[in-house]
Amino acid sequence: MSLPLPQDKSLEKPAAGKRFSSPAEYRAWIDSQSWYQTMTLPSGQKIEGKIPTHQREDLLRTLDFKGKRVLDVGCNSGQYCFLAKQQGAASVTGIDVDDIRLMQARTVALNEDLDIDFQHRGLFEAPDALGSFDIVFCFAVLTEIQDFFGSVDALKKLIGDVGFLEIRCADRGWFPFNPRTWFKTNTTGLRLWESFTEVQRTRQGLWVIHPTFALLQKLFGESYTLRRLGPGVRYEMIEIRRAGG
Ligand SMILES: C[S@@+](CC[C@H](N)C(=O)[O-])C[C@H]1O[C@@H](n2cnc3c(N)ncnc32)[C@H](O)[C@@H]1O
Repeated sequence: MSLPLPQDKSLEKPAAGKRFSSPAEYRAWIDSQSWYQTMTLPSGQKIEGKIPTHQREDLLRTLDFKGKRVLDVGCNSGQYCFLAKQQGAASVTGIDVDDIRLMQARTVALNEDLDIDFQHRGLFEAPDALGSFDIVFCFAVLTEIQDFFGSVDALKKLIGDVGFLEIRCADRGWFPFNPRTWFKTNTTGLRLWESFTEVQRTRQGLWVIHPTFALLQKLFGESYTLRRLGPGVRYEMIEIRRAGG
């Protein structure tokens, strides 16, 4: 006999891409879903997610989106795509590998009259399929991808002008407590501790890497200027500007 699985509200797939006939029907659909992102939509509908992702909006509102091509890697339910489009971006693309999140993003975009291209696409295929963008977001995504070095290569190709990367950087203060979870990368031009990388196994069983900021700079290379903007919502926010972009 099989036991019933716990019900995950987001696994009920009502109304993908449906335009609701009233605010009440729209609200009922929002309430039927489980959300990661917390946002207030242009229509005034509020979405209460697991994470206070609205806290990144102040930073993003300082950007000049007018006429820009924008990409959000790991866009989830589309929050920052909605913001970029509202702020005047010429085109906005959101990519993610989670069909439920993409369904939520497309449904909201339709009901908010926001023209956004949401695609089921992983970070690694994105450069060949999409080219580069003026503004790229990548928040709390590299902590879910095993191939860190491949991710950096893909981001370098995608960032045409500026990127915002929220990532966990290795903190050498933790090294003495768990030295076996660190390894040294064979990198020239860095001080010893700067070339270390912290390795962590996520709850989903993936092995992921947290680089030092200096190593991240080294990997992006001289064509990019990296600036630490301080704590983000989950990790550290880093601005990546391409020279001549
Ligand atoms: C922790 S959530 C962060 C969502 C969003 N960026 C935010 O900060 O509000 C990570 C997102 O990255 C997506 N993701 C994971 N691996 C990916 C990949 N290889 N390419 C694109 N998106 C990916 C997940 O499906 C998920 O929506």
